[in-house]
Amino acid sequence: MKKIAVAIDGPAAAGKSTVAKKVADILKITYIDTGAMYRAFTWYAIKKGVNCQDEEACNKLIPEVNIELKPGHIVLCNGEDVSSDIRQPWVSSQVSYIASYKQIRLFLVEQQRKMAEKDSVVMDGRDIGTYVLPNAEVKIYQIASVETRAVRRYEENLSKGIPCTLEEIENDVRRRDYIDSHRDFAPLKPAADSVLLDTSYLSIDESVEKVLEIINKKIGEETDA
Ligand code: DC
Repeated sequence: MKKIAVAIDGPAAAGKSTVAKKVADILKITYIDTGAMYRAFTWYAIKKGVNCQDEEACNKLIPEVNIELKPGHIVLCNGEDVSSDIRQPWVSSQVSYIASYKQIRLFLVEQQRKMAEKDSVVMDGRDIGTYVLPNAEVKIYQIASVETRAVRRYEENLSKGIPCTLEEIENDVRRRDYIDSHRDFAPLKPAADSVLLDTSYLSIDESVEKVLEIINKKIGEETDA
């Protein structure tokens, strides 16, 4: 198979990473969770005692932060394994602020583009099809209703032993949707050439099937052209 990039964007907790991971495993290509990079930066700012709503103070941390994505979905920040900490509510509640800062985005986007230069990738995020990889062969905009997304994230947190209530999760999802789609730089929005995938009534396996169908159709069209 020739080198391809599959961009999967969409709002918080739409199941992008679960689906993207499975698709990448099936295609035997690299999965890149860009949200994990914003989360790891946020983790670092919080650990340093920096206020995540202070853009200037957060920007100053850029030279100190080294984020690595390792096989097995391990996320390292300056060599420390932060894979489970970055899913905790104390990170989730702050990450949209960090992700709205242009300098931090440029810093992380540069690394994301480098990763996609080397290998075929499935990359998920908010701005992959619109900004990070505008020439991606396949672009998917994955959505689900707010209620469905809140229930999915709530169940995921419970299964990981992360304490929360459904109401808290739903409020957090709505708040993050708002901040992510209203920021000035590279906001969350569908790319003009993306395919809309609503997973509100689809299981994970059905969503994976749909994404594979979209990829096969797009790649087939390119081969035919
Ligand atoms: O997908 P996620 O919930 O792990 O993303 C965490 C936050 O990072 C989310 O609030 C949006 C932001 N994000 C972003 O702005 N751009 C990306 N490419 C990925 C995530």
